[in-house]
Amino acid sequence: MVESATNPPPAVFDAWIDPLPDDADDALAIHVKHQTLLRAYQARYVVLPSETPTGSILDHFARHYDEDRLQRLGALKPGLEAELIAPLQAAARAASGDGDVLAYVERLLPELRAAAGDAFLEALVEAPQREHHYRNFLLQSSADLLAEASASALGIIGEFGPPQSALFRILIDEFGFGSHDRKHSVLYRATMRSFGLVDEYNHYSRLFDTNTLVLHNAIHGLFQNPRNLFQQVGFLLFAETAYQRSTLFHQRHLNRFHPQADARYFAEHAHIDLHHTRMVVEEVVTPLVARFGPEIGREIITGAELTRAVFARAGAGQLALVAAFDAAPSAAFGLGDHGGPAVTPGARVADAAARVQIGAIGSVSAGDFAHFPAGAFGRVAA
Ligand SMILES: [Fe+2]
Ligand SMILES: [Fe+2]
Repeated sequence: MVESATNPPPAVFDAWIDPLPDDADDALAIHVKHQTLLRAYQARYVVLPSETPTGSILDHFARHYDEDRLQRLGALKPGLEAELIAPLQAAARAASGDGDVLAYVERLLPELRAAAGDAFLEALVEAPQREHHYRNFLLQSSADLLAEASASALGIIGEFGPPQSALFRILIDEFGFGSHDRKHSVLYRATMRSFGLVDEYNHYSRLFDTNTLVLHNAIHGLFQNPRNLFQQVGFLLFAETAYQRSTLFHQRHLNRFHPQADARYFAEHAHIDLHHTRMVVEEVVTPLVARFGPEIGREIITGAELTRAVFARAGAGQLALVAAFDAAPSAAFGLGDHGGPAVTPGARVADAAARVQIGAIGSVSAGDFAHFPAGAFGRVAA
C-alpha cells in the first residue's frame, strides 16, 4: 500500500499488509493471509477519524475506498476464505452431530452458564504483570469490539420474515438504541482508555496476533456472505450465551484488581445478553427450524461450534503468552515500538538480541521469542 509522506492516513484508514519475505515460515505466511482478509473485510466499513486529520478527508476517502484497491482485495477474498475459513467450518460441521438444534440448545445453555471461571483471568490472579496481559487482552479484542455488532449488521439487510425483526432488535441494543454514549463499542472505548490505550479503531491493528485475526475473520466470513445466514444465527446463539458469563468474570476481575477502570462494557453485557440469548432461541432458531427443518439445524450448530472453536483458540493463545513471558529471562513489560517487521517464533532473526514486541504485553529478545508457543506473533523493534 502506498502511503503519502505528506498526508499520512489516520489510523482508522490503516490498510497495511506486511510484505512476505522469501524465507517466511508457514506461520508468518498464514498471518499475512489473514491480515489481507482482515483488510478486505474492513474495506466494507464506513470509518471516520475522531480527530480532524491532516489534509482533506475526501482525499483520505478517495484513497481508502479507491475502486481499484477494493477490487484487488475483493478478488483475493474467495480464495482466502476457501483456504482459511472453510476448513474451520468443515471441522465445526463435523462436530454438529445429528442436527437436532433444539436438543443442542437444551445442552448448550446450561453448559455455558455453568462455566466456573475463565482460565486466562485465573492465570492473571497469580501473575504480577497482570496489568500488561490484561491490556493486551483489550488490545486484541479491540479488533472486533471497536466496531462491535457491525459484522452482524451486515447480516441484517434483506427481507427474511419475523426472525429478521428479532435480530434487528438485538442489533439496536448493540448500537445503544441510537444513543451514542450507550453504544457497546463506545463503552468498550472507555475501558481501553482506563488502561491507557488509544481507543481509535485500527490504531493497534499491526499488533493483532494471528489468533485475533482468525477470530475476526471467522466472524466476518460468516456475516459478509449471505449464504451463511444460518451459521450467523449459530454464532449469535453461542456468543450471546457465552458472553453473559465471560463478561461477568471480567467485571469481577476489574472490580478486584483495577477498581478505577471503567467496567460498564462488561456490566452491560452480563445483563443484556441474557435477553439476547432468549431472543435468538425463541424468535430466531425455533421458528426457522419449524419452517425449514433439520437441514438448517445442522447449519446453526455449525456456526455455534465454529464460534466455540475460535473463542477457545483466542483464549488458549492468551493463556500461553502468560506462561511464555514468565519463562522468558529477557522479558520487559510495556507497550513499546510496534512498527517493525513481523515475526513468528519460527522466523530467522539475524540479531538474537533484537527486541520483539508482542502485542501490548511487552518485548523479549529474538532469542527468547524463538521458544514462544506456535501462534505467537511479534514485531522486531525498529
Ligand atoms: Fe454487545
Ligand atoms: Fe448482545
